[in-house]
Amino acid sequence: MRNLAVFISGRGSNLEAILKRWKEGYLNCNVPFVLSNKANAGGLIIAKNFGVKTYIIDKKDYESKEKFEEAILKIVKEHNIDLIVLAGFMLILSKEFIKSFGKDIINIHPSLLPAFPGVNSQARALNYGVKFSGCTVHFVTEEVDAGPIILQEIVPCFDEDTEDSLSLRILEREHIILPEAIKLIIEGKIERNGRRVFIKR
Ligand code: GRF
Repeated sequence: MRNLAVFISGRGSNLEAILKRWKEGYLNCNVPFVLSNKANAGGLIIAKNFGVKTYIIDKKDYESKEKFEEAILKIVKEHNIDLIVLAGFMLILSKEFIKSFGKDIINIHPSLLPAFPGVNSQARALNYGVKFSGCTVHFVTEEVDAGPIILQEIVPCFDEDTEDSLSLRILEREHIILPEAIKLIIEGKIERNGRRVFIKR
């Protein structure tokens, strides 16, 4: 049984998708806590509704990013976490954090990486004029949105799309592939060779 922690900063719809799948028994793991770097993150209420412990660790309460990350690491180590899932966590974790944790960290991103890394990906995809976009679950490395890709889903972009309509279409797929990627990791079905990730089905 593995210990999973989810980090959020906002709404928490991906967190909700994970916790739903977990409660259904699709994910065979413990979820000792959800951590938010924002006290007003909607996802904190979702976590509480599922009976999951929450921590708020806000960077502005610490004198440096290093101290902030030390506080997070302390909680992570206390709970013996095996996998950290970034689900709308809007801060970049340092390479020191990634190294000290030393286990898997994954992220969900609302574009077909390596296209449109960073923020406002859906609007940038629309403005670029792509005909397809989607979402990506990838391992977190020190370079932003650039780690090895675990799963991707494609969605079409239509002439009448707005940022909101495209974001919503992508989000529906995020809610499927993020729990799926977690399941694959928990069940030891992922193999990595450099940038390439293979799934043993
Ligand atoms: C999602 O679009 C995710 O891809 C991105 O941040 C957003 C988080 O949404 N990383 P939510 O908080 O899970 O609803």
